[in-house]
Amino acid sequence: MTKNILLTGGSGFIGTKLTALLIANGYSVSILTRSDRKASMGVTYYKWNLENNYIDEDAVLKADYIIHLAGEGIAAKKWTDKRKKEILDSREKPIELIFSVLKNNNKTLDAFISASAVGIYGAFTSEIICTEETPAANDFLGETCQKWEAATNCMVSLGIRTVKIRTGLVLGKNEGFLKKLVPIFKYGFGSIVGTGKQYMPWIHIDDLCAIYLQAIINLDMKGSYNAAVCDDTTNAIFSKTMANVYGYSIWLPKIPTFVVRLITGEMGEIILTGQRVSSNKIESAGFKFEYLNLKPALLVCLK
Ligand SMILES: NC(=O)c1ccc[n+]([C@@H]2O[C@H](COP(=O)([O-])OP(=O)(O)OC[C@H]3O[C@@H](n4cnc5c(N)ncnc54)[C@H](OP(=O)(O)O)[C@@H]3O)[C@@H](O)[C@H]2O)c1
Repeated sequence: MTKNILLTGGSGFIGTKLTALLIANGYSVSILTRSDRKASMGVTYYKWNLENNYIDEDAVLKADYIIHLAGEGIAAKKWTDKRKKEILDSREKPIELIFSVLKNNNKTLDAFISASAVGIYGAFTSEIICTEETPAANDFLGETCQKWEAATNCMVSLGIRTVKIRTGLVLGKNEGFLKKLVPIFKYGFGSIVGTGKQYMPWIHIDDLCAIYLQAIINLDMKGSYNAAVCDDTTNAIFSKTMANVYGYSIWLPKIPTFVVRLITGEMGEIILTGQRVSSNKIESAGFKFEYLNLKPALLVCLK
């Protein structure tokens, strides 16, 4: 029988690409969304509203697997206290709501797979290569990711196989953070941010979706996995490569650290700092990256 996969936040960047991959692999897909959407292209939509603790229970009761992608955009607005709460609530609350439906209906799942982020390792630049054993940082993103991942423990308590995908910067055509950079770099105005020494752990969207698919299929996968290429891409390398793809060399001076901090506040640390992350665990689980080099990955996204 066809297995059903429920995606929270399935209408976003990662969810849209993942939906297409899952359908191509013979799964039926449902999406929990805040908007009114009619079924289309083989996808069924269900409504929820986290503020009112409302969820259409049928979505959960029909699901064999749940992939949790929902969450307010981390870099969408300045990090006020209110915004920080929205960022965390929009990731924790869905897990609590889904858990209560599962528990009240004595229902189980084949697996619960949740997004997380490499931001768990903290906003500082270092040569250390962070593995899944590296402790979470005490800054806002570190604590947010830690709570987000810890919230999934309720699924473990129900005996459900639970996987957390610690995602790096996702490269996709006209999507994610590249969407913001393209208009600047395309017209020759790209430059290096801050010192340029901060690492930028990246992953191509096709590889990320393939990791989610593997997390469904591979019954041995449980716990946290880094999902980023382990290379030496710093902001300077990233910026120079992007400019090179558009056929020029960077000519503008570096954007000074204090300017970024002035404009973005605390949130600027996610641009000004960055660590290397290990991909050993996901590769040991049998995953093979299609995109291991930055330039070819950027080429398919930018051309
Ligand atoms: N893209 C990246 O580079 C990256 C890197 C690391 C981690 N991640 C994580 O991966 C997940 C998916 O990322 P994405 O890039 O696909 O994000 P996205 O394009 O912003 O999509 C997120 C989806 O979450 C839902 N959502 C947003 N705020 C919500 C709220 N308050 N309540 C309920 N649902 C809400 C929205 O769906 P509806 O509007 O349909 O309700 C939205 O389409 C996120 O948790 C993100 O933090 C992404």
